[in-house]
Amino acid sequence: MSEAGLSPLAQGISLPVEGEKYNSPGSIDVIRRAGDEAIVLLKNDDEVLPIKDERVAVFGRCQINTFFVGYGSGGDVKPTRKVSILDGIKSAGINYDTELARAYKAWCPDHIPDEGTWGKWPFSFPEMPVSDELMQAASDSCEKAVVVIGRAAGEDRDNTLTKGSFFLTDEEEALLEKVDKAFENVIVLLNIGGPIDFTWLKKYSNLKGLLIVWQLGQEMGHAVADVLTGRVSPSGHLAQTIAEKYDDYPSAAHFGDPDSNEYKEGVRVGYRGLKEALFPFGYGLSYTTFDTQVLDYKETAHTFEFRTEITNTGKRSGKGLVQLYATIPGYDFRTLVGYGKSDELAPGESEVILLPVKKVQVSIYDTDSESFVIQKGFYEFFIGDTPYDTTVKAGQATVTDDIVVQKCESITEGSEKLKERIHDRLPAPVETIVQEQISFDDVRAGKYSLDDFIAQMTPAELSDLSRGEGDMDSPNAIKGNAGVFGGITPALKKKDIPIINTSDGPSGLRVCRYSSLLPIGTAVASTWNRRLTEELYSSEADDMKHYGVDVLLGPGMNIQRNPLCGRNFEYYSEDPYLSGMTATAAVRGIQSKGAAACIKHFACNNQETNRYRNSSDVDEKTLREIYLKPFEIAIRESSPKCIMTSYNQINGVWAHYNYDLVKTVLRKEWGYEGLVMTDWWMQLADSPEFPGVKNNAYRIRAGVNILMPGALTRGDVGFVHDSDPENYLTLGELQENARYILNFILLR
Ligand code: BGC
Repeated sequence: MSEAGLSPLAQGISLPVEGEKYNSPGSIDVIRRAGDEAIVLLKNDDEVLPIKDERVAVFGRCQINTFFVGYGSGGDVKPTRKVSILDGIKSAGINYDTELARAYKAWCPDHIPDEGTWGKWPFSFPEMPVSDELMQAASDSCEKAVVVIGRAAGEDRDNTLTKGSFFLTDEEEALLEKVDKAFENVIVLLNIGGPIDFTWLKKYSNLKGLLIVWQLGQEMGHAVADVLTGRVSPSGHLAQTIAEKYDDYPSAAHFGDPDSNEYKEGVRVGYRGLKEALFPFGYGLSYTTFDTQVLDYKETAHTFEFRTEITNTGKRSGKGLVQLYATIPGYDFRTLVGYGKSDELAPGESEVILLPVKKVQVSIYDTDSESFVIQKGFYEFFIGDTPYDTTVKAGQATVTDDIVVQKCESITEGSEKLKERIHDRLPAPVETIVQEQISFDDVRAGKYSLDDFIAQMTPAELSDLSRGEGDMDSPNAIKGNAGVFGGITPALKKKDIPIINTSDGPSGLRVCRYSSLLPIGTAVASTWNRRLTEELYSSEADDMKHYGVDVLLGPGMNIQRNPLCGRNFEYYSEDPYLSGMTATAAVRGIQSKGAAACIKHFACNNQETNRYRNSSDVDEKTLREIYLKPFEIAIRESSPKCIMTSYNQINGVWAHYNYDLVKTVLRKEWGYEGLVMTDWWMQLADSPEFPGVKNNAYRIRAGVNILMPGALTRGDVGFVHDSDPENYLTLGELQENARYILNFILLR
């Protein structure tokens, strides 16, 4: 993304931080608690963890050069502090090998990691070679070794099947080998944004402890130390499958094509496409043990309800998770339909957890009847630690007849039907009735209706309102913002339309001010804790309030279809329900203080390679059940005020020109009333149905309200309109478009 004349920020250049040090009240605490609950314990042989009074030797440069977040618009946050893993270990009072730490501290500044530039982010940093003498000294003085291995990824670049990206480097393998030989107790911490290759795991017989510590934001080191010391028992669970090897991922053979990405695995994404995995979805150990019983199960007209009780049966306190899976007729896999996390339970203590499942959750899309149907047949429910675990049966139900829960229209059928649909649904224009000049403040004060106001707007004003100001880092909002829209021209200003500003992003505010750096999306989902997630994002809402940010460009919530996607770290899960419910909590948190969330990227933005042009080719059933579902859940459950379309095409139609995606599904089927904006700039194109309708006119006809961050010269083709819908956008369409924007501004 480099274009002459654009702001440095728009060219991907990070801007320096300015102003007073500031941390919103409570954010440090909630970021640490979210980090604590996000860490996933995958292996704990011989109870190598927690570390008691033993002395530990800490290896791996990422103890110092810790990855706190990924790269791109989902990173680039400037927190007041960043606690590295080593700093966390030190401040927790862990007895660690200071000689070894000194060696890393001396080496790291001489080998400053190259953070790359936009889209050329590093995947990993070169590792420090450890001499035999240093290794010997460490193993002589320490009982346990901790090895930190880090990986990063970022926007505009996918991971690759190479050493240093998906695979370990030779240096990392050499380090592990050496440590494994020298120590009887080895613990590996993975400072990663998503699954990597794990085939190395079985090579090291002394590797007894394995934790995914993710990228946990500014308090990372403290959270890691909390779990290492046992101050906190790990309670994170995987929100995505870790397969034995890359080829096992159902999407492995169909990912990464720069032009057309065929979603050949269909609905069998992640755990749905596997019978077993190295570490399955939902997996996560604790320092204690839990037992879950089903106290009561009942079926009502619209729900299946489960009353469960989880008991801490171990010797330490901790938080437990109840996961509920359903079998659905016609599918040979079980599907997550509910979950609940307990509070901290002391040994022997229990908590009752209610899991209400809406019947619509077990509906599936029937392509023939073009509807979501609860099919007739037999359903079973299981409480399990993974989808493959069927030890506790929770209930069953028989549905005697198909029940249609949502009639839809096929959105993958192509141009002819679409053209007809657009014609039939063209909105009628609103006419000027009031003669006196109405201002937006009059509408706000209830003196006139919004339609009275819109009827007085000229086509040029309506058109200007449909575009942002033009660039990122607008002088009309906080430095480092992502752009503004609304009252951006003198004429719109004169009508009292305010300027609305936007800022990234999902892990904290990306502005030129100090703001909180949150754990990455994947880590947040691993907490499986909705209350905590809401609290976490409401701390970001505090930052927004403090800096006057109106719209947060997040959360990112695309499905983690394949581990190589460069933006997986921003997203939540491979599972639509977990993604949707985590996003729901995030949106509620962000919007709890009056600001707006903008969920993104709608839809099928599942790879970064050639993201501006690539087409996600996906059948209707898969599209609706897997890729649109999380957005539907978030919209129905949390009413995000904004949604951002994705850059990519879906079955050959760009999301920002996709009438069926926006008007048919989002507006008509889901009843969404909020604001729809493009991702930052869009590809120019003519409408295949109405070749005279181009670029911005094509976008507005598709129901995408605002081009962000705006036009400059790109895409600003000065569309005309009149009453010839074959060749022009109509006044009714322009007015309807303005209604969504102004309504958003009114209700904000
Ligand atoms: C990203 C969005 C982001 C926007 C503004 C785009 O490149 O895809 O997620 O919100 O830039 O920074």
